[in-house]
Amino acid sequence: MSIAHEETILIVDFGSQVTQLIARRVREAGVYSEIAPFNSAEEAFARMKPKGIILSGSPASVTEEDSPRIPQAFLEAGIPVLGICYGQQVMTTQLGGQVEGGESGEFGRAFIEISESCVLFDGLWKVGEKHQVWMSHGDKVTEFAPGFRIVATTEGAPFAIIADDEKRFYGMQFHPEVVHTPDGGKLIANFVRHVCGCAGDWSMAEFKAAKIKEIREQVGDGKVICGLSGGVDSAVAAVLIHEAIGEQLTCVFVDHGLMRQGEADQVVSLFKGHYNIPLVHLDVETLFLNGLKGETDPEKKRKFIGKTFIDVFEIEAKKVGGADFLAQGTLYPDVIESVSFTGGPSVTIKSHHNVGGLPERMNMQLVEPLRELFKDEVRALGRELGLPEIFVGRHPFPGPGLAIRIPGEVTKERCDILRKADAIYLEEIRNAGLYDAIWQAFVVLLPVKTVGVMGDGRTYDNVCGLRAVTSTDGMTADVYPFDASFLTRVATRIVNEVKGINRVVYDYTSKPPGTIEWE
Ligand code: XMP
Repeated sequence: MSIAHEETILIVDFGSQVTQLIARRVREAGVYSEIAPFNSAEEAFARMKPKGIILSGSPASVTEEDSPRIPQAFLEAGIPVLGICYGQQVMTTQLGGQVEGGESGEFGRAFIEISESCVLFDGLWKVGEKHQVWMSHGDKVTEFAPGFRIVATTEGAPFAIIADDEKRFYGMQFHPEVVHTPDGGKLIANFVRHVCGCAGDWSMAEFKAAKIKEIREQVGDGKVICGLSGGVDSAVAAVLIHEAIGEQLTCVFVDHGLMRQGEADQVVSLFKGHYNIPLVHLDVETLFLNGLKGETDPEKKRKFIGKTFIDVFEIEAKKVGGADFLAQGTLYPDVIESVSFTGGPSVTIKSHHNVGGLPERMNMQLVEPLRELFKDEVRALGRELGLPEIFVGRHPFPGPGLAIRIPGEVTKERCDILRKADAIYLEEIRNAGLYDAIWQAFVVLLPVKTVGVMGDGRTYDNVCGLRAVTSTDGMTADVYPFDASFLTRVATRIVNEVKGINRVVYDYTSKPPGTIEWE
């Protein structure tokens, strides 16, 4: 059940890789948006009563039989529609225009020339100007539908932007939602504000107030239990729920001993000291380390940690007694139903760690106050709730913790070595003012020993790898291009200050083909 927002935009997903970015751009324009797969968009339309509709791109081709279509009612509802790439093509086809398969397609950067003025360009682009946009299409519109006019063109796409101002239908061949279209966010903002007439005043303060009300209504005088992982999401969820229902919430912090340096203490002092939230702190490091003894297989390590976390949490939850609700920091990307054109299940790359299965096992209902938010919005909500910046702005950290940053066997000694090296690396990154420019940075302790020389002596010690990537959602990632002097400084400090490491290497692999974590 979601909050009733006054002004919403419905995004119809045809399976593009970047549909989520459309939702983000709309929200950045101060308007609440939701994504619905094309085959359940009518239900979402009836529920949301949107002020406008945006149609996403797609790997499909409108020239193929059985390719997805827009519910015809959307084109007859009298509300504005913006079609992006496939969205433009499907709209054109359904309104009586023509789309053809391109011989070569157009992929990457292109320059668009503005030929006529248009409400989408308000305060932005003028006739005659050229601007960079991002293209990624095989098919293209070859004849627009009645009522449309061309307002911008590129060499490869004569119908780069088309407009029917009377019906308030617009189509773009390029992708305004990606960062490579530098003005794309403003084009989308013009659509939602100037075409759809949204005020653009959706804010975190409003979201917080509405959510608090909703949590109170859902929970009544019931008891809620929340598992803390030490990460931002579960912490923000817990603080929000506490603000709504106070002492009816109990937090359980399963401290598996696989956290970064000082992190467990930070969680305890923040929750107990600062917020005065009832907190059960379970120090179960030995249980986890004993269970991991001798295990080197990454999937088995992950599975053991996930299962043990749930077992410990369940025992403790029963002790707290009679909780009716389980709170989770589930985010919007986890709940967006993905549209698949391959028909098959997607491949499991890694088993992610969460508290899946628990609500059914314990007969509890779920409270998931963040399920409508993206990661950066969760951070904004955390700030709204007064969580300290050092906590809110923290890089994502995986549920299985340091265990998956120690390829091979995990021991207390190896965790301690890794924690020290990791703390030095992060300290240097913060000192250089780079922390916020990086999505994730961490050290990996390798199961490899090499020979070195320190003073007059020979050393034979561990190698560690440094990883730093930029990303918007963790799905793809680029390597962070540190300069050599920075890496040299970190390597020197780690080898000098951390007993047990005598060599440092830098991981230069993007995702794909690498993953962010090493296991
Ligand atoms: P990979 O390694 O798959 O990671 O490229 C993508 C993002 O997910 C994080 N990650 C996890 N997060 N539980 C989590 O909550 C997990 O089991 C887990 N494994 C990886 C990883 O840190 C990166 O941000």
